[in-house]
Amino acid sequence: MAIAQVVLFALISLVVMEKNLVLATFDTDMVCVWGKDNCQINGDRLALTLNEWSGASVKGTKEFLFGYVQMRIKLVPDDSAAVVTTYYISSPWESKENDWHDEIDFEFLGNVTGKPYTIHTNIFINGVGNREEQFRPWFDPTSDYHNYTIFWSPYMVIIQDCSAETPENCYTASQLRQVTQSQIESINEKRSNYMIYDYCTDTKRFKGALPTECYLPPY
Ligand SMILES: *[C@@H]1O[C@H](CO)[C@@H](O)[C@H](O)[C@H]1NC(C)=O
Ligand SMILES: *[C@@H]1O[C@H](CO)[C@@H](O)[C@H](O)[C@H]1NC(C)=O
Repeated sequence: MAIAQVVLFALISLVVMEKNLVLATFDTDMVCVWGKDNCQINGDRLALTLNEWSGASVKGTKEFLFGYVQMRIKLVPDDSAAVVTTYYISSPWESKENDWHDEIDFEFLGNVTGKPYTIHTNIFINGVGNREEQFRPWFDPTSDYHNYTIFWSPYMVIIQDCSAETPENCYTASQLRQVTQSQIESINEKRSNYMIYDYCTDTKRFKGALPTECYLPPY
């Protein structure tokens, strides 16, 4: 078990869309709802801290259909075993029995000193997840802040680490419909070299009947 002092500082910027493109700001459109001591909203910037006592969460004062959230995260170095740093966005839901929520997860599963984190993603649609993918990091997520972007539109969901050195790997609101050829190449390179789990290849788990989207072209 890691003894984490301060394991995460996050600086997030948020762009979300209602009917039209709107630039949501944290001070007018978001409130801290949990872990308030670890949650600071300052204009269009939000800082969330995960320490040994608590994480933090914010809630929108209205619901958004599409958009992107960028979060800069620096993970705890050395012994992070049993610490799961989760960065996720979710729509609200009523109860366990009446759960139609959508959710996009970006998680970092800690490890013992010298061993790599696991990057774990999942997507929930109408209350159902089971869409896990896992990667070994292709960079050191503890050495510095990295910019992790969750982008969702009616056409696609992209969850990616955008390092400052390779801005062409980042997705902005102008690219709503289609990933570019160079983005596809970058995604394929990461998937072939660093992916360690893909629910779409887990025929045993789904007893041969893989989820529908596994049969669709990925891009
Ligand atoms: C920790 O590292 C080992 C060795 O690389 C790896 O097999 C294991 O999956 C890692 N555990 C997590 C939770 O990432
Ligand atoms: C994340 O990276 C993008 C592209 O380089 C940049 O525009 C944006 O400001 C960065 N966001 C944060 C929160 O650093």
